[in-house]
Amino acid sequence: MPPTPSDMEEEEIHFSNVITTFRNYAQYSLAANNRRRKDIYRLPHADQEVLEKLGYKQKLDEVDNAIRVNAEFVSQIVANPEIFGHDLQLDGDEGEDTSNGADHPGPAHSHPHAHSHPHASHTHTHSHGSHGAAGQRGKYKPTDFDMDKLRSTLKQFVRDWSEQGREERDACYKPMKDALVEHFSHVPPEERGKLRVLVPGAGLGRLAYDVASMGFACQGNEFSHYMLLASYLILNRTDSIGKYTIYPYVHSFSNVPSRKALLQPISIPDVLPSALPPGANFSLVAGDFEEVYGAEADPDEPQAGEWDAILTCFFLDTAKNIVNYLRIIHRILAPGGVWINLGPLLWHFENNNTNDTSVELDLEEVKALARTIGFELSTERTIDTPYVSNSEGMLSYIYHAAFWTATKI
Ligand SMILES: C[S@@+](CC[C@H](N)C(=O)[O-])C[C@H]1O[C@@H](n2cnc3c(N)ncnc32)[C@H](O)[C@@H]1O
Repeated sequence: MPPTPSDMEEEEIHFSNVITTFRNYAQYSLAANNRRRKDIYRLPHADQEVLEKLGYKQKLDEVDNAIRVNAEFVSQIVANPEIFGHDLQLDGDEGEDTSNGADHPGPAHSHPHAHSHPHASHTHTHSHGSHGAAGQRGKYKPTDFDMDKLRSTLKQFVRDWSEQGREERDACYKPMKDALVEHFSHVPPEERGKLRVLVPGAGLGRLAYDVASMGFACQGNEFSHYMLLASYLILNRTDSIGKYTIYPYVHSFSNVPSRKALLQPISIPDVLPSALPPGANFSLVAGDFEEVYGAEADPDEPQAGEWDAILTCFFLDTAKNIVNYLRIIHRILAPGGVWINLGPLLWHFENNNTNDTSVELDLEEVKALARTIGFELSTERTIDTPYVSNSEGMLSYIYHAAFWTATKI
């Protein structure tokens, strides 16, 4: 079903709101840190002196500086939002001007919906339904929910594009890549370009990038504007390793063991995104997985049986209706193809307040469903892994993530 004008309008508004969120990062984050500063003056004088001796105020100044460095990076992510082809009607930036003046394009013209680049082509399709509150055009005040998504995007950079994220990538992406190579071990590496691999919910694109650098034709799919804008910068506008430094951990003072941990600089990227081998085939498609690859996909681009491998990493639990997700994966997988999954079941729509459907199966039920739909599961195991965790923090969640490879019966 093609998007209606009101879907398109909602999409434009949401995109504008995301851009506004990025542009308000500095003001919002500095204000949050300033609250700590103001709270010092509410304390008895003697207590203020003790904190002074500890250097607490000086730490707050260092955090301000780190936020300004982040803001510079964040402003680069949204420096040219018009390339995403949206009709932008943005408010002025109310934050500190930490940019070099290049990020106020004003209303943008419409651009073609697809653009390619030597490193990763980003193709855009409509992705309505991918977001919560869209609101009205006009002045938008980012909520803490919006800012949280932005702060999570900074942490996602650690997972995907930093040296510090290597351990997490080795836990999650490596077994998936190994299973992919194993399944196609009969195909010589120089012929891998004939094999089409899909990575739905690609996040910042590292797994898809790695698969493309192994010689497979790889397409990532993602619908979050935060992720798409951020991955565009890293994949298409980054010309050196370690080009950017960010401070992803300065936004919360809880469970922090030391000032060093709070102010840990992260250098990104750890590899040169343009270093894909010549002839590599790598693309990112923007849009809702169910819309792009599901039954209602563009009849000119039939997806059925088109994908030799589908890699779902921390993705299945983003489903509102897992039955439909698995049906689509089954339908678009080529005969002899493989579906490789790794992830927990943190159902994203459980207890949502947007009246979205949510089906929340347990792991046994998901596996039974996969078998009912026509998959044969093998190499089932559990992989313990964190997700965007701060290895230097005092709190860490470990997921007992389910791994399997599956083929069509
Ligand atoms: C938990 S993250 C995992 C990201 C990445 N696979 C990783 O392992 O780091 C889930 C990702 O799926 C994306 N996503 C969720 N629902 C989607 C949908 N229906 N279509 C496309 N992407 C979706 C989210 O925006 C998010 O980037």
